[in-house]
This record gives sequence, C-alpha cells and structure tokens, in this order.
Amino acid sequence: MTEQRAVRGKSIIKRTMKLILYFTVLSIGLSAQPHLALEQTINRKVDSVLALMTLEEKFGQLNQLGGHGDKITDEQRDLLKKGLVGSFLNVNGAEATKKVQKIAVEETRLGIPLIFGYDVIHGYRTIFPVPLAEASTWDPDLVEQAARVAAREASASGLHWTFAPMVDIARDPRWGRIVEGSGEDPFLGSAMAAARVRGFQGKSLNDPGSIMACAKHYVAYGGAEAGRDYNTVDISERTLREIYLPPFHAAVNAGVGSLMSAFNEIGGIPASSNRLTLSQILRDEWNFKGMVVSDWTSILELVKHGVAGSRPEAGVLSLQAGVDMDMEGRIYLLDLFHALKDGRILLEQVDRSVKRVLRMKFLLGLFSDPYRNCDTETEKQTILHPDHRAMARSVAQKSIVLLKNDKNILPLKKDLKSILVVGPLAESKSDPLGSGHGKGMAEDVVTVLDGIKRAVSAQSKVLYAKGSGIDSIDKRELQKARQMASRADVVLVVAGETARMSGEAASRAELGIPTAQHELIKAMQATGKPVVLVLMNGRPLAIPWEAGNISAILDIWFLGVEAGNAVADVLFGEVNPSGKLPVTFPRTVGQVPIYYNHKNTGRPPSKDYYTSKYLDVPVTPEFPFGFGLSYSTFAYSDFAAASSIGPNESLKVSVTIQNTGNRKGDEVVQLYIRDVVGSVTRPVKELKGFRRISLGPGEKKKVDFLLTSDMLWLYNAKMERVTEPGEFVVFVGGNSVDLLEKSFVLRAQ
Ligand code: BGC
Repeated sequence: MTEQRAVRGKSIIKRTMKLILYFTVLSIGLSAQPHLALEQTINRKVDSVLALMTLEEKFGQLNQLGGHGDKITDEQRDLLKKGLVGSFLNVNGAEATKKVQKIAVEETRLGIPLIFGYDVIHGYRTIFPVPLAEASTWDPDLVEQAARVAAREASASGLHWTFAPMVDIARDPRWGRIVEGSGEDPFLGSAMAAARVRGFQGKSLNDPGSIMACAKHYVAYGGAEAGRDYNTVDISERTLREIYLPPFHAAVNAGVGSLMSAFNEIGGIPASSNRLTLSQILRDEWNFKGMVVSDWTSILELVKHGVAGSRPEAGVLSLQAGVDMDMEGRIYLLDLFHALKDGRILLEQVDRSVKRVLRMKFLLGLFSDPYRNCDTETEKQTILHPDHRAMARSVAQKSIVLLKNDKNILPLKKDLKSILVVGPLAESKSDPLGSGHGKGMAEDVVTVLDGIKRAVSAQSKVLYAKGSGIDSIDKRELQKARQMASRADVVLVVAGETARMSGEAASRAELGIPTAQHELIKAMQATGKPVVLVLMNGRPLAIPWEAGNISAILDIWFLGVEAGNAVADVLFGEVNPSGKLPVTFPRTVGQVPIYYNHKNTGRPPSKDYYTSKYLDVPVTPEFPFGFGLSYSTFAYSDFAAASSIGPNESLKVSVTIQNTGNRKGDEVVQLYIRDVVGSVTRPVKELKGFRRISLGPGEKKKVDFLLTSDMLWLYNAKMERVTEPGEFVVFVGGNSVDLLEKSFVLRAQ
C-alpha cells in the first residue's frame, strides 16, 4: 500500500517535472522576448522546481563532486541516484557525460540535470598558448576567438562549464599560478577577462558551442605572501579595489555566469567566507546574479585557516557569505542539515543558493536538453579540428615576445648551411602544453625542434644535441654540444622551465633558468658562434647574465600544440614578432614584487643616498611591462592632446606611428596616465588604453584614443570611487618606459 502510494507520488512528481520542462522549452525558445521577461520566466520555473525539493535534495544541488575522466565511483553513483549531487567536475567526453546525466535525469526523484564542469583554461584538446602568453598578444579579440574554440571543443565533449578565466592579478613571479592569468595590470587584465568570458559564453549560454565561464579565484589569490601558493594575503582595501578586483568586475560586466571563491585569506578573513567580497561587493555593489562555487575544498579549509572550529561551522560561514556550491568538500551535503535545524543558517539562505544553481542550469538549457552536446559524432568532428590548430598557431605567433635582438641576428635565413639546436626542452612534446592543459596530449604537439626542421630549406642541416638535463649537468652531452657547435652557423638554445615548474602549487624561490641549462647557454656562448636563446617559461625569469651576454632572446612561454611551428615562423621571419610583456621581468628575485604601476614614495630613487633604492642592483627591471621588440622599428610623432577637459568631457589623444623598418609589422600602441596630485597617492603610471596596429614598411598611421574623465577614477580616503580635478600626465609609446608625455588638467567645471 505504502509502496503503491510512493509510486503514485513519484509519477505525479515526474509528470509535474515534465510540465515544468515543457514550459521551460517554451520560455527559452522565445528568444525575441525582452531580457527581463525571460528572467522572470526563469525565476518562476526555478521557484516551481524548488517547491518540489526536499531539504536533502536542496543540499544535493549545492554539492559538486570530482569524477574521474570517463567514470564516477560507485559511491558517487549512489549519492547521485538519491539526488544528492548537483554537479560533477572532471567527468568529460560526450559518452561519459551522457551516461552520468542519464542517471540524474532518469533515476533521481526529480530528474534535475547535472552541470558538468572542467578546467578548460587555454584550450580543451587543441591547446593554445598559456593565458600569460595569450595576454602578451594584447589582442582581446584574438583571445576571445581562442576561448571560443576551447568552448566549442569542450561543449562537444559534453561539458557545460569551465573554471576559467583565471583573472588573478599577479605581481610576484615566484607564484606559479602567474602563468594562468594575464599578468600584473588591472586594465589589460580586465580586457582579457571580458574577452575570455565572451569567448566561452558566446551570445547565449544556451548555444551549442557555449559553456559557462567562471572568473577565479575570487579574490586576491595572486597576492600570496612571498609568492608561495595558498599563502596569506594581507592587502589594503584600496589595493583590493584598485588592483585585484577590476578584472572580476569586468568579467561580471561581460555577463560571467559564475565565480570561484579562492583558497587564500584576505587580511584575516578567508576569501571563501568573506562577506565584504562575496556579498557586499559582488552582490550589492556589482549586482551579480550568477553562482559562486568554492575552490576545491576551500570551505573545508576554513577549519585549517582557524576561523571555523568544525565542518558545520565552516559550512555556515561560507553559505552565509555567499558561496553557493561546495566543490568536493561535502560540507554542504553532510554538515548543514543540523546547522539549519538549530537555526545557525536559515532556509532562505539555502534556497537562495539552490535558486542560483538552478537558474544557471535553466540558462544553460539543461532542463530542456539535459544531453546537449552529448553526441560522439560531433565530438569527433570538433576536437582538434584543423581550423582550431590554425587558430592556435596564429595566437602562438602573436604571443611570442622578442626581448633582445642585437645586430639584428634574427630573423635567420632559411638556407643556412647548418643550424644547431640544443637544450632538453627543444624536443619536449609535453612541456609546450604548459600547466592546466585540459585534455591536451603530448602527441598533438609540434616540438620546437620539429618546427625548425620543417621550416628550413632542403639544403640546411638541423643538428640537435640535448646538451644537459633540465636541472642536471651532463658532461658528455655538453661536450657533444660543444663539438657540434663548431660545425654550425648558428646555435639555438631552447632553455627555461618545464611545464610543471609553474601552475598550481608550483612556486619557485629562485627565478633563474635552472643551473644546468644556464651552464649550457654559457658554454654555447663561449664557442663564439652566434647564439639565440629561445626561452620557455611560465613566469618572468631573472636572467641578468643572458640579458647581458646573449645577442638574441625570444620569449616563447608555453605555446601549446603549434609551439614549434609558431617559433619557427618567427625565427625565420615568416612572422614578425609583436608580443609585448604583460608582466615585468626583474633583474633578480630580490626586486620582487616589481611592477610598473608602483607608487612614487616620498623618496623616489635618485642619485641621493637616502632614497628608495638598492645598494647592489638598480631599481629598474630587466624588461619592463609592455616591452617587446619587432624586426621593424616604429617611430612615434605628432602626439596631440588638449591641455584641459571639463568634468564630464573626454580627452582626445592622437599619435602617429610610422614603421621605420623594412618589413611589415604590428605595434601595440599603449596609453598611460599619471594623476599628479590626488587626495591619496597614485601610481607613477596606469595603463588606460592600447591598440594593436599593422603597418607596412614605411607606412604611417594615426591612432586616436578617447580618455573619458571617468577613466581617471581613484578611491578616495573614504573608499568612494571618484574622479578628482587637477593635473594629469598622459603618455603614449610602445612600452611602459619609452614614452612621449603631455600634461593636461581635469577642470572642476
Ligand atoms: C584549483 C582551481 C581549479 C580546481 C578544479 C583547484 O585546485 O585551484 O583553479 O579550478 O582545482 O580543478
């Protein structure tokens, strides 16, 4: 009898669910409906699903578990069948996601679809340059297209959600995760953040090629003390608002569907229980409507941070602060029930988070088609499509930064008799993928050595000697390299870091090229042959010896599957290098943190003794922010800007750039400002605009920028975002140091 009732109850619910799904299809199908009406419809649907849910099922929706490629465990399957899982991460592939989704849809009481998430950081299977490299393109449109390709492949593999973009500002290259972001600058970082969100999410989350983006790690994760991953962050609210928050705000303004709360604390309050950042700023000030997922067990880690005495306490703190979904910690699943019963959290707080999760599932179209993108045929046709590889190659070409080119030893002639390539990284198939490379496979990678071999003429001989281990001297190899160098016209040393030397939990206290490879570079230089250093790295390195002694240095970061082809394109002049550094290269680790938009201090460095300086090294960097050479040269002239603007006016700035070289080339024109006197101290320079232009040999172009008065913002002593009248300087140029400048006044009226 009871069983019969239960069965009847179940079928009524299933029928109700079907009705809901039917209406959902209708509402989402009406794309001509104004945005607001669609929102209201979705909210109604969300409410009607919520009304059917038990408390356990609600906690289940807030529970995200980590699967294992094409599998989930038996225990996870049991939880799923009970409706206790809202999302899986790390389950991927059209077939695997379909199988697991089927359990959610057909075997749970309410049939609420799962959302599948994965770290699609710089490509899914077609791996693009690491994000720091992509930021070196200073080309948000291109970066958007790269994210679009990643979204297309990931969605064809049954995924709905990427834990990207990583938009953490990083001023400390010891921090290994600097590789996953866009560098040190909030303006460039914001442009890249918005571009990636647009690329991943497309015009609508509901489109087949779209996946939901997740801006991470909210917030200030990059401010880890001493560059040690997960370490304490202690910054002022000003630095938080002026430096670390803008890229997140840009992501929110671009419509990002989710954010991830970070591992770190910020001045005593962990990011995953931080009401200022998660509630006040994100929800109240920015009006963010999407969902927040914790980082992997970051709710549980509140216990180790020492702000929660138990698992339930940790859950209470996070839920109340505004973290909606618990990644892998199972605290929301297991420990909030009693907290609710004894009044430490309110049902409204649980419902609020469940609604946010359901809302995103509706927006993704999962209620109307839970199996969207679970088609193995489409998956096969999409993954590693030749067009995607072509796109990866063009992004890689533009990500390369030429740091030095004395006597124009680059580009090389393709018909040199003999080229010696040395260094263990030259033949590495896995390292060019960089860290966090999704489903990228070493077998897909064109190595630097192979790229060079493919590019040279039939008469040229490409010799290869490993020369050393990554970090172990190999005397025989070294000797072999020396001997081979004597027969070569030029020596290309491919040296630097392996992919595993940056990324999560991969901080370094030293920033040099590992000693064995450094010795190899020195030995090659000692042969007297022309030497080119091809630097592979996931962070700015301190390379004072190389910068002083090697004639040509090409920074290639980790360029993805097309690495070797792109490097060869630049080495042999098929492509004129045009990347610019999104981050400062120090001379030595002792200068860190070093960044271009620092404050002036009361005693800026000068010849006087009692000034802000070092006794043993200059205060200036090895290579500044925004720097990068070309095989052409560019001359800046006719810099024009009005001498004053009114409070709501814009400053028109124009400058003419001429390609004074004899090759076509791209230049990234950069615009900076300085607020000379403010009610609070201001950076010596702040990037406020940039434009990438292409110029033929001898060609001239006028570039215009519009600097609105609103762009001159600062946070005053009361932490209000204001624009203050007074004197400013505007600068233009090809990097953050070599600049033309003009003063102007922002009038009070
Ligand atoms: C990382 C996140 C990542 C998550 C899921 C964490 O360890 O900090 O960036 O998205 O794992 O893989």
